[in-house]
Amino acid sequence: MNILLLGSGGREHAIARKIADSPQLSKLYMAPGNGGTSLFCTNVNIGVGEFEKINDFIQSNDIDMLVVGPEAPLADGLVDYLKKDNTNEKLMVIGPCLEGARLESSKDFAKQFMVANDIPTARYRSFTSENVEEGCRFLETLNAPYVLKADGLAAGKGVLIIEELEEAKVQLKEMLINSKFGKASGTVVIEEFLSGIELSVFIITDGNNYVILPEAKDYKRIGEKDTGLNTGGMGSISPVPFANQTFMQKVEDKIIKPTVKGLKNNNIDYCGFIFFGLINCNGEPYVIEYNCRMGDPETESVFPRINNDIIEVFKAAANKTLDTITIDIKKETAATVMLVAEGYPEKYPKGMKISFDDINENDIIFHAGTALDNDNNVVTSGGRVITATALGNNLEDALQKAYLLAEKINFDHKYFRKDIGFDLIDLK
Ligand code: AMP
Ligand code: GLY
Repeated sequence: MNILLLGSGGREHAIARKIADSPQLSKLYMAPGNGGTSLFCTNVNIGVGEFEKINDFIQSNDIDMLVVGPEAPLADGLVDYLKKDNTNEKLMVIGPCLEGARLESSKDFAKQFMVANDIPTARYRSFTSENVEEGCRFLETLNAPYVLKADGLAAGKGVLIIEELEEAKVQLKEMLINSKFGKASGTVVIEEFLSGIELSVFIITDGNNYVILPEAKDYKRIGEKDTGLNTGGMGSISPVPFANQTFMQKVEDKIIKPTVKGLKNNNIDYCGFIFFGLINCNGEPYVIEYNCRMGDPETESVFPRINNDIIEVFKAAANKTLDTITIDIKKETAATVMLVAEGYPEKYPKGMKISFDDINENDIIFHAGTALDNDNNVVTSGGRVITATALGNNLEDALQKAYLLAEKINFDHKYFRKDIGFDLIDLK
């Protein structure tokens, strides 16, 4: 089987590694891939948004399956575009159509969907420039802090959590009238603040059946103890100690099942990942957000725990036979530490040579922002550079191993958080 995987981050490296382990693979192409994937895949110089080039590549390279890593091409309708072309009739695609991707690309759509399907989520209302004043009055009915969300994709920056009512009103106007997040904030969701601990739950669905992947927790802030600016993710662990069987049963019954059923009832033909961004409020799960893709850096901890032949799972999703698949999960805990370039998520240097000291074949390393220079050295090319992942008998063991590995990967201006997972060690 020939596979084209779209994306270039640590998430896609982790997915690619798992695909490459399958005996069913003939050739794995990545567009565009990164320095790490170039070592075992064929990187192709096509961007994830270049639909025509992607289509041409699929047809001229006998691609049997397309796996889409990031949300942007899904939200822009890549799957619908490819399916319009009859030549792709047999192409298996892991990634939803535009309508399915709206679970992520429109927060207003996602909230309406949850309310219609009785899925627990924060109380909310949506507003546009037509009813800003009503929005201000709605804010007055809520308690601080105030949660304002741009409806559309805003590169992860479209959610504001504000302590003061007056400031919340100012920001609401900034979003709706002064287009603070461009078109993305043409509609704003205002919702009740939920307090609790967040976690990420993932499924693959064929639109009818689903399999649940290992859950994970990510660490979003740049600084230790969750301080400082938001990032694309500084680390992750899986499993999540507080996501015990009782909690996960509630997640399945109250969230996963009604979500898959809701998609079906709305005639949304969904084949791909669903990422449930959840919050545990006193033992009850609520949906904070949906994503139509895997999480990053959660995937780097989730995928190494899956024993299945992933091509088998993807094939079953595409053929709508996921009911025949049982996900076999390693008992071990996985921990991932993201190594970044100092200065990230603001200004940071690039092009630093990366050295790997005393790495052995059991070490799990996923590249994110790396490239090969003219002499084939691996160099940094982004803020989030590379991950150190380890499996261990428990969380402490996995973290200890991941941190040892993090010390063996070196580049100038390396920075990483030293406290990934530590908040959860006693939370069993
Ligand atoms: P989202 O893009 O919807 O995931 O929001 C980004 C982050 O804002 C989430 O990961 C949460 O930490 C926080 N957040 C969003 N909505 C809420 C809410 N209703 N209550 C508390 N925190 C929230
Ligand atoms: N780690 C959160 C995300 O991928 O959106």
